[in-house]
Amino acid sequence: MCTEVFVAEVSLLIHDLEAAVSPKGHGPLRGGSLGELNIHSPASVAIAGDRIVAIGHPKEVLDGIPPGAEYESVNGRGKVALPGLVDCHAHPAFLGDRAGEFELRTSGAAYEEIQASGGGIRSTVAATRAGGEAELTAVIEKHLGWMLEHGTTTAEAKSGYGLDLASELKSLRAIYDASEKSFVDVHPTFLGAHTVPPEFENAAEYVGFVIREVLPEAAPLARAADVFLERGSFEVPEARRYLKACREHGLALRLHGDQFSERGAIPLAIELGARSVDHLEATGEDGARLLAKSDVAAVLLPACALFLDLPLPPARLLVDEGAIVALATDFNPGSSFCESLPLVMILACTRLKLSPAEALTACTANAAHVLGLQEVGRLALGYRADVLLLDAPDWRHLAYHLGGDRFAAKIKSGRLLN
Ligand code: NIG
Ligand code: FE
Repeated sequence: MCTEVFVAEVSLLIHDLEAAVSPKGHGPLRGGSLGELNIHSPASVAIAGDRIVAIGHPKEVLDGIPPGAEYESVNGRGKVALPGLVDCHAHPAFLGDRAGEFELRTSGAAYEEIQASGGGIRSTVAATRAGGEAELTAVIEKHLGWMLEHGTTTAEAKSGYGLDLASELKSLRAIYDASEKSFVDVHPTFLGAHTVPPEFENAAEYVGFVIREVLPEAAPLARAADVFLERGSFEVPEARRYLKACREHGLALRLHGDQFSERGAIPLAIELGARSVDHLEATGEDGARLLAKSDVAAVLLPACALFLDLPLPPARLLVDEGAIVALATDFNPGSSFCESLPLVMILACTRLKLSPAEALTACTANAAHVLGLQEVGRLALGYRADVLLLDAPDWRHLAYHLGGDRFAAKIKSGRLLN
């Protein structure tokens, strides 16, 4: 690889790395390009403020820095630099837990049965409604800290455990306040249509209420909107009505779709120009091909499939047919109590048969695309300096060392964290 240099005042130099590794190009990668990486080896990375200003051979990077310049430096010997990970599907805004339900599931109860009998999402809604805003802020901050430990430097945070005006606004404000206190960059999503709360008779009535009463106040606090399109939650007509209203309020659109059953999420997402359909464990071949030909991203959540013992999504077919594939944790208390993207990468490699390179792009550059971010998810000139220093001689250890993501340091927006 040629050294890339953009002359500027350097504030931090990571020098003499074994390698610096990043998805190629710009924008989302798909099909045969999904696993194309730029690998500089050996490498140094120079940072000015919050941006990457040089990356490549250590000598050439050093030659680009004016003599006598003062900057902080980090010794990269024996280490590999990677882009900070991007978790594009996460639900960190909840109170309480569902350890009891987890135990019930080990003795045979199904997630959908627990949900139908009033537990599941509704039990977390009750716990989240009951808590104060400061308590919720502190818990979200704790969850963001867990994510950062595993290398996540940018994360989505969905609401959706409030489901009334006061509790949805409380959740979105708490997400904002927690993000202010965290090093993780947070992208709030309004999940007003997560499930029908107990005080409503049916989905149509609830969606009418959300559009009238909640959306106008929630939209300014969020960047995207999401719906759970599934039997027992919302069907296509209500999902369409809700998403169209959200789009009119300027929000990007996301869908939880085809988790347990195929019921029109992919055609609806394409019709509305949504950013992504997430889950896809129940997607058949026709649906996978349709999605792959579109610009709607497929967000795969293998930790959720593991946690609920669901069938796996048709990942290989999606990649081979050219879909924009991203990976995420789906961190939440019920279906995926997992904040680790490196674990998700390992599951993607071992169970979904993605290569380590495809898995890396899927939770960096492509995940950033799902969040609408252009300068995140790569180590390249002009990109934000979110850098992980993996304490391993080969970058593939990130997708290979099961439960052993060992970071020597993390750099967030040019700032050395540890
Ligand atoms: O992505 N499917 C809907 N929402 C979450 C689960 C939320 C929960 O169980 O609390 C998901 O799996
Ligand atoms: Fe989810």
